[in-house]
Amino acid sequence: MTTEIIKQNKISWDMVAHHFHGIDALPSYGPFAQTEEELGLLEEMENKKVLDIGCGSGHSLLYMADRGARELWGVDLSEKQIKAAEETLDGLDTHLFCSPMEVEIGLPKLYFDCVYSIYAIGWTTDLTTTFRLIYSYLKQGGSFVFSWDHPLYAHITSENGQFSLNGSYQEEGFTTYLNFKGEDAPMVIPNRKLSTYINELIKVGFTIDSVIESDVSVNYVSTEEEVSDRYYSLYKAKRFPTTMIIKVIKK
Ligand SMILES: C[S@@+](CC[C@H](N)C(=O)[O-])C[C@H]1O[C@@H](n2cnc3c(N)ncnc32)[C@H](O)[C@@H]1O
Repeated sequence: MTTEIIKQNKISWDMVAHHFHGIDALPSYGPFAQTEEELGLLEEMENKKVLDIGCGSGHSLLYMADRGARELWGVDLSEKQIKAAEETLDGLDTHLFCSPMEVEIGLPKLYFDCVYSIYAIGWTTDLTTTFRLIYSYLKQGGSFVFSWDHPLYAHITSENGQFSLNGSYQEEGFTTYLNFKGEDAPMVIPNRKLSTYINELIKVGFTIDSVIESDVSVNYVSTEEEVSDRYYSLYKAKRFPTTMIIKVIKK
């Protein structure tokens, strides 16, 4: 079942990859969300070995290179995204792999100073295995930082600016969307509660450093806010966090 989901999502991600060229890459943590420059979660990157999970078009790795990271590693499900990342990072020494994050592909263990993931971790069909693998890649003392849609966000819909709860936050599982980014690209997206992310991190051995339900970035303070029913809008983001950002440490 999960193999089927990965297969379908891979085909669809190859179709929609061009919509995600450098969108919500570091220093952004997500739509309207506080940025790395505001939150300072990544510490000193000079000479560090970093691994990007769901690296997309490679723009977050480019940000890490600009901050002085010495080794740039990335994994992504989509061949199109890996190709885009190779172009973005042209001239830099990189290690990019086209693979589902939830599969063991022999990445080095006890090796990375920092593993991070910007708006990709929630795609995994197997959260426990994914977190266990990430834990194994990190050196002792290394950190794992990720951002993803706040798990309640998808359940809050708006009509003429009035919010209501859609579906059940309690029910975890998979939702199939027949269209994604306006393309005929069926995607299966897991639904999980905030507590599931936190408990799975604890279960594999991580120590929680920070859990952030992001406020709106200072970049939007002077942007006029209009009533909007869009999935991501400043109007909604000012009332409910679009993004959760979690930092954990392998002690
Ligand atoms: C919203 S994009 C993330 C953008 C990227 N992190 C950046 O900084 O620009 C989500 C990415 O997750 C990848 N993805 C989806 N499911 C995946 C999986 N199971 N394993 C690895 N990557 C996956 C997609 O191909 C896509 O590139």
